[in-house]
Amino acid sequence: MANPRWVFGLKTLLIFISLYLSLGSCLIADSLEDSTAQQKLDKVLKLPGQTFNVSFAHYAGYVTVDKNSGKALFYWFFEAAEDPDSKPLVLWLNGGPGCSSIAFGLAEEIGPFHIRPDGKTLYLNPYSWNLAANILFLDSPVGVGFSYSNTSSDLLTNGDKKTAKDSLKFLLKWLERFPQYKDRDFYISGESYAGHYVPQLSQAIVRYNKANKAKAINLKGYMVGNALTDDYHDHLGLFQFLWSAGLISDETYKLSNILCDYESFIHSSSACNDIMDVTSEEMGNIDPYSIYTPSCSASTGQAKWLRKRRLTVGQLSEKYDPCTEKHSVVYFNLPEVQKSLHVLPEAAPSKWETCSGIVSTYWKDSPITMLDVYRELIQEGLRIWVFSGDTDAVIPITSTRYSIDALKLPTVSPWRPWYDDGQVGGWTQEYEGLNFVSVRGAGHEVPLHRPKQALTLFKAFLAGTAMPVAASGSQQLISDS
Ligand SMILES: *[C@@H]1O[C@H](CO)[C@@H](O)[C@H](O)[C@H]1NC(C)=O
Ligand SMILES: *[C@@H]1O[C@H](CO)[C@@H](O)[C@H](O)[C@H]1NC(C)=O
Repeated sequence: MANPRWVFGLKTLLIFISLYLSLGSCLIADSLEDSTAQQKLDKVLKLPGQTFNVSFAHYAGYVTVDKNSGKALFYWFFEAAEDPDSKPLVLWLNGGPGCSSIAFGLAEEIGPFHIRPDGKTLYLNPYSWNLAANILFLDSPVGVGFSYSNTSSDLLTNGDKKTAKDSLKFLLKWLERFPQYKDRDFYISGESYAGHYVPQLSQAIVRYNKANKAKAINLKGYMVGNALTDDYHDHLGLFQFLWSAGLISDETYKLSNILCDYESFIHSSSACNDIMDVTSEEMGNIDPYSIYTPSCSASTGQAKWLRKRRLTVGQLSEKYDPCTEKHSVVYFNLPEVQKSLHVLPEAAPSKWETCSGIVSTYWKDSPITMLDVYRELIQEGLRIWVFSGDTDAVIPITSTRYSIDALKLPTVSPWRPWYDDGQVGGWTQEYEGLNFVSVRGAGHEVPLHRPKQALTLFKAFLAGTAMPVAASGSQQLISDS
């Protein structure tokens, strides 16, 4: 006789048994610390707006860096396009402080996926750095991009020290999840305020390896571009550049040198801030990150006025789009994009931003110089390269040259041009322990403006070889004429 109550009881029992079994298998998986299982979970299968297939695997997800406060850093990792097992691992960091490496590094500079102006579809970057290495993008620190903390006050206490500490924790745990990269040659690269993050994280790794008497992370070197390095020399070079590029008046040039002398870049006095406002007013509506290319607002105005002419310069506008940042804001706010990247809905920002105002506003420690870190790491024998796009008015080439000069390193190989397809790609000078490379015509984001030359630079850095000299054919041409 079927007793409805008994049936209910049996059902409940069965549910409990199956729950118990699935819980049991969870526990077993946990106890094995199945890194490959987590790798599989992080694998990105297909992105919305991706109309092409790719040869490489890529992964996105979180690494918890503090269980108690609920801090997790978001990463997106791309295996090299070919033969990832034989290629080094490279971490890329953008600056700000507060800017997302996914917004800038990945989506408009060195990553394989770039976003079209519709904000919905992707195209493949032919100069992606994953042609030469396995590339890991990290949104750092918490509050940046999809990186978060469940303790909201954590967003108000970010600074250089915490960033380095959390990034080191991230790396150690990430390598547990991807053990196939544990002994791999490892490099760090980045630009702008990552001029702080990159040497500081390198220092944290070197010190961690020493303290643990092991090469937990096989760090070989780092490379930074248009990097904040030394506030005094960076300021000196900044005003000199603004003046000699003809962007500011004589009077403002003199005043800024006086009012920002020995000031911090991040925590500057109101007098220095005020004169910086004047410089920006005098410069007008140009893109300070790339002073000779159209600024985003100007080009949208132009699009309406010069539609016909734009067609004739279509190739140019294909090549350089000043509004790339806007496209990623559309794309990364799409719920289906966040879903395919494994973003936790309950931890996602209400609106994804390329740079976090909160993170930069509440930034704590920001040492006025990185030169002491350089000195320590040069002693350690790391490969250190410093590059600069020479049309940047934010951390210009003059700043970088003054900062390098302050290290007083002996020259190994004197100043000379380097070549790309028979044209001068920029200039280079090799010092004992440091190699300087400029990229001609590139702005603050070198790989955005000069993608081909940037990939050449990246390959030379990884190989540890000098930048290319003129092809023998073109040298012949010069001596013949
Ligand atoms: C991508 O690969 C799938 C599976 O191999 C194939 O069916 C599809 O046609 C490919 N798409 C393109 C655009 O090549
Ligand atoms: C943060 O909180 C959310 C919602 O409770 C939770 O799903 C997530 O696992 C927490 N993150 C961390 C790193 O603890």
